Amino acid sequence: MKKFMIGNWKMNQSLSEINAFFNDLNLTGVNCETWIAPQALHLSTLLLKASGTNIKVGAQNISEEKSGAFTGEISPVALKDLGCSFSLIGHSERRSLFNESNAVLNKKVLLNQSLGLTSVFCVGEQLEERENGMTDAVLKHQIVEGLKNYPESALDQLIIAYEPVWAIGTGKVATPEQAEETHYGIRTVLVELFNRAGAQIPLLYGGSVKPANAEGLLSQENIDGALVGGASLKGEDFSKLSQIASKLSK
Ligand code: 13P
Repeated sequence: MKKFMIGNWKMNQSLSEINAFFNDLNLTGVNCETWIAPQALHLSTLLLKASGTNIKVGAQNISEEKSGAFTGEISPVALKDLGCSFSLIGHSERRSLFNESNAVLNKKVLLNQSLGLTSVFCVGEQLEERENGMTDAVLKHQIVEGLKNYPESALDQLIIAYEPVWAIGTGKVATPEQAEETHYGIRTVLVELFNRAGAQIPLLYGGSVKPANAEGLLSQENIDGALVGGASLKGEDFSKLSQIASKLSK
């Protein structure tokens, strides 16, 4: 499987910073899945910048409704129409800062799927939950509820990103062994839900990934790529991360 390197730019990057990013980006010889999720205002700019490259562009969030009187929301129909191919769904910042419930996230995943968009469905435990030995149970609950009624025939439109909340933006990265052990648990849940097809769903790790630690993480058997925040903002770092993902792709 080709490894994934997905940049989640969150609410960052000005137009001049985006220009600098693309000036510094060097994907020569890179053969992995290289995706970027800019803030919604910059989706069109990114699509233009990415045309002629292998970079896929997607959103950080979508509405659970297709269209209508929902001021300020991002329509997944418009996202698809624009030429985007995916959306993150259920990032921990959406869950905690915007109170997105598993039920709402399930609606978003199913809507995305019905429109032919790929969902990068994010799950992760809080530090307290890990310390209390609840990690596997928390992740299983998020996955079972978030993917309720997800059709087995559309698993090629599904990616899971495991992002321990305590590792996001903190510099505290999970060790490769910790991440692999947790990914193995997630893999087991996915096989319970989708039988053997569940073993093929890409599982990404996210949380303080940078060029210095990416190789150790992406070398693990059940880590198929990374979802990267801070280190995805600079073209030079994102190039290095993509080169590592490419080198480890099969
Ligand atoms: P950092 O890489 O900045 O820790 O962010 C991770 C993340 O939340 C990606 O979605």
